[in-house]
Amino acid sequence: MQACGLSTNRDTKFQQYYVKGEQLYIQHCSNCHQKDGRGLGLVYPPLAQSDYMTQNVDQVLCLMKYGVAGEIVVNGKAFNKEMKGVFSLTDLEVAEIATYIYNTWEHNQGIIDIADVTKAHQKCGN
Ligand code: HEC
Repeated sequence: MQACGLSTNRDTKFQQYYVKGEQLYIQHCSNCHQKDGRGLGLVYPPLAQSDYMTQNVDQVLCLMKYGVAGEIVVNGKAFNKEMKGVFSLTDLEVAEIATYIYNTWEHNQGIIDIADVTKAHQKCGN
């Protein structure tokens, strides 16, 4: 209907974020969390179907860049090993990775925008 043009635009942007996000994920994250997002035993937590991700979007946008330490419970399993963030990531790159991981492996969050990242980063100390 009326929103048609707009939604096509959004789809294009979504696709661009998603494709770029997948490349960045493979480059920066898949060593530990694996290409299939399942993580590695009790060492690296899964992103696939992660309830932590669903409940803590802002924290996830922060930890990609700034890292995280302390206990994190994902799908009932406790993990406690420091993750170093990738400090060189721009807000756009964080948004692209987030759009990828939040719309893969049964996550269905829709696009995560630069503005979402900027807002989240203001809360996590920068
Ligand atoms: C060197 C290994 C390593 C790399 C590289 C890494 N992580 Fe992590 N990640 C971890 C560990 C370990 C934890 C658990 C941290 C804790 O116990 O406090 C974690 C936690 C997480 C969590 C929260 C828990 C969950 O499973 O939902 C998310 C989301 C996440 N990482 C995403 C990413 C993304 C996206 C990247 C790439 C930008 C990335 N990680 C790169 C090791 C890594």
